[in-house]
Amino acid sequence: STDTLRYDGKVVVVTGAGGGLGKAYALFFASRGASVVVNDLGGSFKGEGNSTRAADVVVEEIKKAGGKAVPNYDSVEFGDRIIETAVKAFGTVHILINNAGILRDVAFRNMKDADWDLIQNVHVKGTYKCTKAAWPIFRRQKYGRIINTASAAGLFGTFGQTNYSAAKLSVVAFSEVLAKEGAKYNILVNAIAPIAASRMTETVMPAEVLATLGPEWVVPLVAVLVHDSNTQESGGIYEVGAGTVSKIRWERSKGALYKTDASLTPSAISQKWAVVHDFSNPDHPTGPADFMGLLEAAGEMPSNEQGENISFKDKVVL
Ligand code: NAI
Repeated sequence: STDTLRYDGKVVVVTGAGGGLGKAYALFFASRGASVVVNDLGGSFKGEGNSTRAADVVVEEIKKAGGKAVPNYDSVEFGDRIIETAVKAFGTVHILINNAGILRDVAFRNMKDADWDLIQNVHVKGTYKCTKAAWPIFRRQKYGRIINTASAAGLFGTFGQTNYSAAKLSVVAFSEVLAKEGAKYNILVNAIAPIAASRMTETVMPAEVLATLGPEWVVPLVAVLVHDSNTQESGGIYEVGAGTVSKIRWERSKGALYKTDASLTPSAISQKWAVVHDFSNPDHPTGPADFMGLLEAAGEMPSNEQGENISFKDKVVL
């Protein structure tokens, strides 16, 4: 069970570990034997300013409790420096928790390029840069565990968060690809959409809701996913927080099939509108190649008025 999981000998990098969820991860892994790099830029939740204090406070707390930790104050946009801190202090990195994040909520009409760019830089480029620097190490040691931090905003879209939602779904796609590229090197990559009370959410949630949302209720799932005992689970997307843990996946309707000829008109789409939207017999694709199933089904259809069958498999290169 989770209460007995340990991380002795493991080096964990947690970005944005000066507060909120990141701090909860850092304290947990340090308390279970890991050496932790506590990264935090120490700015505001909108990404303004910087300070060494956020990371230092957490490092001090870990050390006082007898744990091993070093601070790093760089922005995740310079993720190579964060991984360098891990290598200098502890020789390597085994687990990377890409957690740092900010918000620049604004209705799209009023969004400035700076609001868009900063969110992309921190969430997408930051996740990329930290991962890019850790990747060759993970490959060489044939061991790596990555958690990328998405958001329900990215999965479903939230009013006023085009920048943030777009960035957060990017992080999901990034995870899905790296899960595939990392598989043969024992690098497991999962994404979480957490929900937790933090300075980031205190402005958007009522106090009585926040009271139920301790960051500590996100930690156990992350703990399991990055532990040695997880040798399989990769490319997953989880929603976690407030005592719930769920997995998210893509669902595709069985869909409508048409002959690829002049009969495939807009009105032919309208006629089968309900079929396109019928989720009673769905599948759950995990890669673009899964589209072949649809094409094969289509291939069984007469493809033109002459009733000639076309094997799409031979014709379509994805
Ligand atoms: P938080 O604001 O308490 O923690 C984020 C930390 O990241 C802060 O300490 C901040 O200084 C640090 N940070 C910001 N920009 C940085 C940068 N460029 N480089 C290094 N550190 C930086 O927020 P919270 O809630 O703990 O968020 C953690 C992650 O979870 C974020 O990625 C956030 O988008 C995500 N998330 C949180 C949700 C929630 O309900 N709290 C919901 C969905 C996603």
